[in-house]
Amino acid sequence: MASAFGLASKLNSFSKNNFLSSSDLNSDQIFSLFELAKQLKSGNRRIDLGNRVLGLIFKKASTRTRVSFQVAMARLGGQTIDLNPQITQLGRGEPIKDTARVLSRYCDALAIRTFSQQELEEYADWATIPIINALTDLEHPCQALADYLTIQEKFGELKGINLSYIGDGNNVANSLMICGAILGVNVQICSPTGFEADKKIVEKAKSLSNFGSKISICNDPSEAVKESQVIYTDVWASMGQEEEQLKRKEIFEKYKVDQKLIGLADEEVIILHCLPAHRGEEITEEALESQSRNVFDQAENRLHVQQALLAVQLGGL
Ligand code: CP
Ligand code: NVA
Repeated sequence: MASAFGLASKLNSFSKNNFLSSSDLNSDQIFSLFELAKQLKSGNRRIDLGNRVLGLIFKKASTRTRVSFQVAMARLGGQTIDLNPQITQLGRGEPIKDTARVLSRYCDALAIRTFSQQELEEYADWATIPIINALTDLEHPCQALADYLTIQEKFGELKGINLSYIGDGNNVANSLMICGAILGVNVQICSPTGFEADKKIVEKAKSLSNFGSKISICNDPSEAVKESQVIYTDVWASMGQEEEQLKRKEIFEKYKVDQKLIGLADEEVIILHCLPAHRGEEITEEALESQSRNVFDQAENRLHVQQALLAVQLGGL
C-alpha cells in the first residue's frame, strides 16, 4: 500500500483544482486517488477536513451522487448544504457570475448537476473554490472514477481490459471513454446509428490514450461484446430526454443487455450500470439481478472515490 506521503506528493498538485471533465486528472493522479479511496474504504485512513462545507446545486434528480457527496463530507468531518435552485435566487434568475462569487465566500467547494457543460464552466470561471461536475449532459466524471475503481478491484488491474458500453452515446459513455483512455482500458461504445458518442469526445479520448488503450465506436452489440471483460449500460433516455423515451425504446431494442448478449462475451465478464436502471429496457431484470453484487459495489464506490476526491481538492492530505 502506498504511503500517505507518497500519495500526498502525487495528489497535492490537484488540490483546489476543478473537476469538470474526466480529462482534468492524469493517470498518475487517478491511480493515486484510487489508492486513497481504497484506504478510506478499508478504514486504514482517516482524514478530518474540519468543518468544511460543500454546496450542492442540483438542477436534476439524484440519489447516488447527492447522498454519496453528503456522506463523504460527513465522514471527512464537514457538511453539505442543499442549494437547490428552487429555493435559492438562482431559480429567480440571479446570474451565475454573481451566485458563484457569493457562494465562494461561504462554501469551500461546489458540486453541480446541471444540463449544459457551458453552465458548469461559467461557475468555474467565476468561483474561487473548486467546482465539481456532479453530471452534465456532456459528462459524468465522478461516475467514471467509481466505475474504474470497481473494475480495478474486480480484475486487479485496468490496463488491457476490454470494456463495451452498449447503448446511448451519452454523458456516462463520454466520461467512460475519456477516463478509460487515460487509464489504459480499451473502450468500445456501441450505439444505434444516430445515437453514437460525440465525435469530438471520441477524438479527445483517443488523444489522451495511454498504455496502448484503444477507443472505438460501433453499431453491432454482438460484435462489440466479444472478448469483453466488462459490459456497461445506461438508460436509453437520459434526464431531459423524457419526451423521446417511447421513440428510443423502439430504436434501442437490439441494444438490450440480456443473457444472450452476455453469453457472447468473455467467460469472466461483469456487468456494470451507473443506475438508476430501467429494467426491461437497457437491461433485463435477470441480467441486473445476476450481477447485483458488482452493480451495487459500483454504486458504493461513488462514496469512497468522491471522499478521496474531496479530501484532495479541499487540501486534506
Ligand atoms: N449514477 C448516478 O449518478 O445516480 P444518481 O442520478 O442517483 O445520482
Ligand atoms: N445518462 C443518465 C445518467 C444518470 C445517472 C442521465 O443523464 O440521466
